[in-house]
This record gives sequence, structure tokens and C-alpha cells, in this order.
Amino acid sequence: MEQLTRFDPRIAPFSQSVKAMANPQAVYYDKAKNVRAERIEGVVHLYRMADIVAINRHPAVTGTGGRGGSFGNDGALIPLEIDGSEHKKWRRLLDPMFAPKQIARLEDSVRTLAAELIDKFAATGRADLAKQFCLPLPCLTFLRLLGAPVKDLDFFLEFKDGVIHPQGETLEEMNANMAVAGGKLLEYFANFLATRRAETEPADDIIAQLLHSEVEGEPLTDLELLNILFLFMFAGLDTVTSSMSCTFAWLAQHPEERRRLVEDKSLIPAAVEEIMRFESPVPGGMRYADQEDIDLGDGLVINKGEAMYPLWAAANVDPNAFDDPMTVNFGRRANHIVFASGLHRCLGSHLARLEMRLAVEELLARIPEYSIADGEELVYDNISVRNVTYLPIAFEPHNGASA
Ligand code: HEM
Repeated sequence: MEQLTRFDPRIAPFSQSVKAMANPQAVYYDKAKNVRAERIEGVVHLYRMADIVAINRHPAVTGTGGRGGSFGNDGALIPLEIDGSEHKKWRRLLDPMFAPKQIARLEDSVRTLAAELIDKFAATGRADLAKQFCLPLPCLTFLRLLGAPVKDLDFFLEFKDGVIHPQGETLEEMNANMAVAGGKLLEYFANFLATRRAETEPADDIIAQLLHSEVEGEPLTDLELLNILFLFMFAGLDTVTSSMSCTFAWLAQHPEERRRLVEDKSLIPAAVEEIMRFESPVPGGMRYADQEDIDLGDGLVINKGEAMYPLWAAANVDPNAFDDPMTVNFGRRANHIVFASGLHRCLGSHLARLEMRLAVEELLARIPEYSIADGEELVYDNISVRNVTYLPIAFEPHNGASA
């Protein structure tokens, strides 16, 4: 069942129907409750946790099946657009760099950066948290970890917006704009890698580790490095920013729950997980049944050749998987799939969790009481990655650093 034009979740009818909703969870919930799966534009939309977890771990289901090129880069992004044993090879290289032990070393520097950012606006009593906190904290953290120049943050932001939220009404326009953004990044990194290769000072950032790594006895080629860094630059920059904006917006709108966290910090890690489950910042991905029919039981068969659009966000509020899923309950120990599951499970989940926890701890320590500023409206965008693009808050100003 070959598709003539490639299905793109960004302009697909289902995604467009929830585009600017503050609470798309209600739509996701209805789907997961009432519709197990449906074919829209020839693509099987999957809404339930059990089916999605099954396809994510099914050995004959691929992430892209070699299609690649969905983000303005002609090459296959490593590891997202690679499957099978090749994919395992790359994850073996990359996993240790983002392992919990490595990530835990960042705790002090991320905490300090969070405090510095908050101190810049704490005395004013107002802030656009999206722009002044949720954006710089993860982006600066990630650039430092990677060893990419922090001074070029604006360039990287323009790139990630260009590929994750491309301008354009049609797929052709979006693809053309993504290709322009992607081309600039590739050129930038080609030059940058040449500079880094020439360096004599030892460094222990991720780029240095990649430059000195070998895969099956061979050093990485520039093309491989570019295909890794290209993915990192939007996976690492956009997702945590978006997740933070959703989390702080939720806490602004649920003061009682926020106060529980202020009173008992030990609840924060569980609260971060649970709010992420509900907010599900990355709504869905693509999977393909390239090799064979996939029988999911009870009459649901994905035919060989079909594309699937599993909605992680629907699975995360699936009443077949969670009791009372529309209630955010910090006591829940949820097995959510915010970071997907199976083979392409997120590489950066430990980093993301660390940043989220520290962001909430530091912000609530300094600004325990805040609300959406009077007369202001939050702006949500649910395409590609759910985020609150405008998050104006008001609070009691306070001078001087640090709680
Ligand atoms: C809260 C923040 C984050 C969320 C919600 C998130 C979510 C996801 C999801 C849902 C996937 C699966 C994509 C798919 O299969 O279509 C994924 C994959 C990935 N993520 Fe994240 N992510 C986050 C943060 C990060 C960070 C900080 C990094 C930085 C390294 C990162 C790197 C990756 C990579 C490299 C993959 C591809 C993994 C593979 O294909 O094997 N992510 N992420």
C-alpha cells in the first residue's frame, strides 16, 4: 500500500484539528477510549497504549524504513532514521554519553544556570517564562554539554525552529524552508568540525568524544558526525524547552498542586513525570510495517507496506492503561511513553528529566506563588512538539538572589 505523497504529521488532518488547543488531552482521551485505530489518509493512526507498545517493540516494525529526509536533511539522521542492526550500533556508541551517571554530573551547573536566569527577572514581578527561562535553560545546557558555541545560540534556535516548526502552508513550502534551515546548519557544522579536529587542547564534551570515537574499528566520518549533530540540535533544544513551558503553564493553572510541591520538594520528581504524562510534549511519531503484516490481535492487522502514526499523547491518557487518566495525580507511578518506547526510545530522557526537575525546584524555591498575568492568554502550539510559546506570569517581586 505505497503512499503517493508522503504523510506528514505536521499537516495531517488529526494534528491540525488540535493545533492550537490548550487541552488536546480531551481529544486524545476520546480517541483512546472509543477508537482503537483508524486509517486516515491511508495511515493507521494508533491511540492505545497496548498497541503502541507492541509495535514499538515489534522486530519487523521500522522507525523510518530507510526513508529519512523528513527534517530538511537528505541523509538519514542518526540514530532516529536508522533501523535494525545499524541502529543498535549507533545506540551502543551514544547511550553511554547520555547515561544517568554522566548526566548526574551536570546537576550543579544546571542548577546554577537556572538560578542565574531566574535572578534576572525575579525583581520585576513579571516574566515571559517561555522566553526567559524555558528556552535558555535547556538550550544553553545542551550547547555546553555538546561543546558547541553558546554565542551562536540564536543561529541554532533559528535552525531548530526552521526544521521543527517550518513556515509554509503546504508540504512543498515546508520542505523547501526546512531544506534552507538544514543547509545552513550543515555548512556551519562542516566548518566547526574542521576547527574542532584541529584543536590540540583536550576537551571532554560530546563533540570531542564523538571525534575520538570509533565504530566497528573506524573513526566517524564527517557525514556521520553531521547526521548525528543535525538530530541533536533539534532533539536536544526543542523538546525540553517545550516540556518545561507545558509544565510551568500547568503549575500556574493549578495553584493547589503547585503549593504541595513548594511545601514538599520530595514530590517534585514524581510531579514532573506525571505532568509530562498528561502534557505529552511529543504527540506522536511514525512507524512502518515494511516487512510483513503486523497482527495486533482482536482483528487489528497492519498490512505489509502500511505506515502508522502512533500517538504517544493518546496512549498516555488511554483509559485502558491508566485509572482516571485525565487527572494529574502526583501519587501515580505511571508507565507513560512520553519518551516513546522500544528501539527508538529517547536517547536524552535522563538529561531531560534532570533539567526538568532542577528547573521546577529552582523556580519554585524563588517564585513559589505565580499566576498567569492578568488579561493575558497562553499561546499553545501542538504541532510536532506541544509547547506554550507565550507564558506571561505575574508574581510578588523579590530582590536579591537565591532561596
Ligand atoms: C522532555 C524532553 C524530551 C522528550 C519529550 C523527548 C521525546 C522523544 C521521543 C518521543 C522520541 C522518539 C521519536 C520517534 O521514535 O519518533 C525521542 C527520540 C530521541 N530523542 Fe528525545 N525527547 C526529549 C529530550 C531529548 C534530549 C534532551 C535529547 C538529547 C540528546 C534527545 C535525543 C533524542 C534522540 C537522539 C532520539 C532518537 C533515538 C533513536 O532513534 O534511537 N531527546 N525523543
